[in-house]
Amino acid sequence: MEQTGTQPTLHMLGRVKVRVPAKVNLALKVGPLGDDGYHPLGTVFHAVSLYDDLEALPAEGISIELRGEGADTLPQDQGNLAVRAAGLLRETYGVDHGVAMSVMKTIPVAGGMAGGSADAAAALLACAMLWDLDTQPDDLHELGSRLGSDVPFALVGGTARGTGRGTELVPMISRGAYHWVLAMARDGLGTPLVYRRFDEMHAAGEVEPGTEIPRELMNALATGDVAGVGAALVNDLERPAISLRPELGRVLDHGRRAGVLGAMLSGSGPTCAFLVGSEEQAMDLAAQMKTHPAVWSVRRAVGPVPGARPVS
Ligand code: C5P
Repeated sequence: MEQTGTQPTLHMLGRVKVRVPAKVNLALKVGPLGDDGYHPLGTVFHAVSLYDDLEALPAEGISIELRGEGADTLPQDQGNLAVRAAGLLRETYGVDHGVAMSVMKTIPVAGGMAGGSADAAAALLACAMLWDLDTQPDDLHELGSRLGSDVPFALVGGTARGTGRGTELVPMISRGAYHWVLAMARDGLGTPLVYRRFDEMHAAGEVEPGTEIPRELMNALATGDVAGVGAALVNDLERPAISLRPELGRVLDHGRRAGVLGAMLSGSGPTCAFLVGSEEQAMDLAAQMKTHPAVWSVRRAVGPVPGARPVS
């Protein structure tokens, strides 16, 4: 994808700011481990109103600075997915521009809400704009899918069905507003570790792999039946994650006892997501969840919201 046409004005835009949302999976159905080391998925992504803001400025090399809760635990070199995203874009388009990225994080770090993928998606969009590259949404989607399973969805947002590794997306029309309470448990839980536990439980006959998304969930989403969505939430990584961290089961039960429409682990955890019927109920539940000893932070969010987009 060499740049064609007139040479772009170097750093035509002096500064680009991109806002990108977190996600929960309304369904996360996991198939058996494939030869490529990945599990085929049947998933429904849903973008929620917790955001990271990435600001990009012209620079010589590629660098990143991260702020916000937990940011000091993240890599700021090639280990950072946003740095890799900028490098991949530069290489793909054969340009030699640089970027200084600054990220204000609100999406919980290592929480199962795809914060790292969100930053990579924001970096792709911000650098494409900053460097004035002739990119189409499909180009960024393809580059995103090479960076991580959740990156393409962070670009599109909304509610979308994902297959393959989760990178093949079909947007879904979902009616209604969804109010979420997100309870962050202490200490992150590595995604590969949870998938490995899923494989062990599969070998022991304790979980049944499968990628079919429950019809009840699809129907409830299509009709805006929020209670129906709550009842049909499913995450095949929940039991493996709970077997690694039993307190997550207790956090989910604590919310369920408070009377929610639905409760589930978000992605590979350890964030627990609760669906409720209104903002008032979300405020009440958030106050209750704060009292649980395994919970260190509680946030409220609504969905669906759009994917990565420039903000002034
Ligand atoms: O693609 P991503 O970087 O999010 O994946 C992290 C790890 O999670 C992979 O290296 C793999 O071990 C596991 N994974 C998987 N199947 C998927 C997605 C992730 O086994 N569909």
